[in-house]
Amino acid sequence: MSNGSLPPGRRAAVVAGLRTPFVKAGTDFKDLSAVDLGALVVNELVARSGIAPKEFDSVVFGQVIPSPLVMLIGREMVLRSQLPRGVQAHTVSRACATSIQATTDAADQIRLGHSDLAIAGGAESVSDAPIFASRPLAQALVEVSRAKNLADRVKILARLRPRDLTPVPPALKEPTTGLTMGESAEIMAQRNGISRQAQDELALQSHLRAAAAWEAGKLDGEVMKVPIPPDYDAVSSRDNIVRRDTTLEALAQLRPVFDRRYGTITAGNASPLTDGAAALVVASEEKVKALGLTPLGYVRAYAYAALDPRDQLLQGPAYAAPVALDRAGLRLADMDLVDMHEAFAAQVLSNLKAFASRTFAQEKLGRPEPLGEVDPAKLNVNGGSIALGHPFAATGARMIVQTLRELGRRKGQFALLTVCAAGALGAALVLERE
Ligand SMILES: CC(C)(COP(=O)(O)OP(=O)(O)OC[C@H]1O[C@@H](n2cnc3c(N)ncnc32)[C@H](O)[C@@H]1OP(=O)(O)O)[C@@H](O)C(=O)NCCC(=O)NCCS
Repeated sequence: MSNGSLPPGRRAAVVAGLRTPFVKAGTDFKDLSAVDLGALVVNELVARSGIAPKEFDSVVFGQVIPSPLVMLIGREMVLRSQLPRGVQAHTVSRACATSIQATTDAADQIRLGHSDLAIAGGAESVSDAPIFASRPLAQALVEVSRAKNLADRVKILARLRPRDLTPVPPALKEPTTGLTMGESAEIMAQRNGISRQAQDELALQSHLRAAAAWEAGKLDGEVMKVPIPPDYDAVSSRDNIVRRDTTLEALAQLRPVFDRRYGTITAGNASPLTDGAAALVVASEEKVKALGLTPLGYVRAYAYAALDPRDQLLQGPAYAAPVALDRAGLRLADMDLVDMHEAFAAQVLSNLKAFASRTFAQEKLGRPEPLGEVDPAKLNVNGGSIALGHPFAATGARMIVQTLRELGRRKGQFALLTVCAAGALGAALVLERE
């Protein structure tokens, strides 16, 4: 939907945003669940916003690897925060684009006039990912619980083989292709001719820009402090993945992980497994006026797209971005900033190539002209997911607040955000400042 078709006062404003530090899985937040992380950020965001909790009417929140112990993280954000219990909520998932989805859901509800003030966001704890029992073990445990006597129980358990006792982690493979994200990104690097050096250069830039943003104090206002359990005598106050001392030489030394022999993707040029949470306050323009709020910016347009996962799994942004820009009534050249989620450097570089390719535009999109080249000076200017980390469901909200605050510092007008996601999905969001 472009702005032209919006009823007056129904444009969705992003009024505030906040995140936890993003930390490597298994480190500072290893004893916190996604719900814990989400509740921390929602509580702090509502408190810092200065808006009375009773003004909020809804919460849209997501988690990509859900816990079977908490079925509805969206509602938990209400029940574990200072928001009134009468605030309705729902949970969303669109893999790595989950908190983009939460934000566009909130924006749509605002556009429809069903909501005026919402929280949108997401949380992920890879450290707390559920581990499952194998099918034979799960079946045996159910039968044992129903068995009448000890002899029957022993008989059931005796059927189990040692391999049945191996725990099953959540699937990181794409069901259609049987390949992990890293393996799929490796294929994209090969097909698009993305060199190892180009990937390492992008990774280096991500780290140096993220480190510079922290040093300049740019991220202080959008990252809260989190006391670290179980002792709470230390505090996590910064992302712990950013490396200000990374060099191209150090990155070049790292061994490929997904294709050990011929591959180019390493721990250095991939996004790491990360814990964290991020949330936004989204409001109608009417509410902004009524409460005297100062928005960071507005949602102007968005698009989701998909391709066949057996093609280039993480190419979704190149499909979604042209549609979002059309809906916004804008061109790539109008953007003051472009923020592209960095799942892998190879995926970013592949999408940038597709943006600029006439062949891609004509053959894949049926459009006569390519979207265009992204000016490197406008791309991921304060670092991206390679350096900052990627707690799946929190990344979109992290990108929105980071980009809007930078747009404000630059007095810019428009920004394009893109996220690739599992299932060969792509998300694109156009933000505007005034
Ligand atoms: C790539 C991956 C397997 C690496 O995991 P890992 O081996 O635990 O990574 P580590 O952080 O331990 O890094 C491995 C080594 O590289 C080094 N390293 C990592 N980044 C580096 C950098 N920027 N500069 C220099 N060295 C670096 C580490 O210091 C470590 O060295 P060590 O073995 O001497 O300690 C993991 O991060 C992963 O699975 N990422 C992909 C996640 C994914 O699929 N996301 C979905 C995208 S949408």
